[in-house]
Amino acid sequence: MTQMNFHTRKWVKPEDLNPNHSLFGGRLLQWIDEEAALYAIVQLENRHIVTKFISEINFISSPRQGDIIEIGIIATDFGRTSLTMCCEVRNKLTRQPILTIEKIVFVNLDEEGKPLPHGKTQITYVKDRL
Ligand SMILES: CC(C)(COP(=O)(O)OP(=O)(O)OC[C@H]1O[C@@H](n2cnc3c(N)ncnc32)[C@H](O)[C@@H]1OP(=O)(O)O)[C@@H](O)C(=O)NCCC(=O)NCCS
Repeated sequence: MTQMNFHTRKWVKPEDLNPNHSLFGGRLLQWIDEEAALYAIVQLENRHIVTKFISEINFISSPRQGDIIEIGIIATDFGRTSLTMCCEVRNKLTRQPILTIEKIVFVNLDEEGKPLPHGKTQITYVKDRL
């Protein structure tokens, strides 16, 4: 089975904090949604994609200012027009789990914003396409 890659690292800065001085959950969701969008664009080879569904989010621990966190995404199911992914976020240095999301679904769209079959069935790598 393909391993989850933790491509993106983030440094938790003052502007990312909530009033309790830990990472604001909304900021983390913004980072994850962008990471999932980039993953979907690369896998589906189409820029016209949207977030359709995000399952229960389990915030396990709170990062603090100065922590380095890393975001991992992997495709779990290629549908007809959709791509389902799962996500894990952890502390880069301690590997302490921060969050898990079982299902993030993006839909592949045509120019008019209607679902478009993507024709993909498995994870592929840009280096093998070139
Ligand atoms: C994405 C959108 C075009 C899909 O329209 P739709 O009428 O639901 O389309 P369909 O019913 O054909 O479903 C499209 C795909 O999404 C999947 N899907 C739909 N609802 C789902 C749900 N609640 N959970 C998981 N997958 C879902 C379907 O199974 C289908 O996948 P498949 O083709 O791989 O089988 C439409 O819902 C939309 O524009 N939503 C807003 C998206 C958006 O703006 N996101 C950003 C929010 S700020």
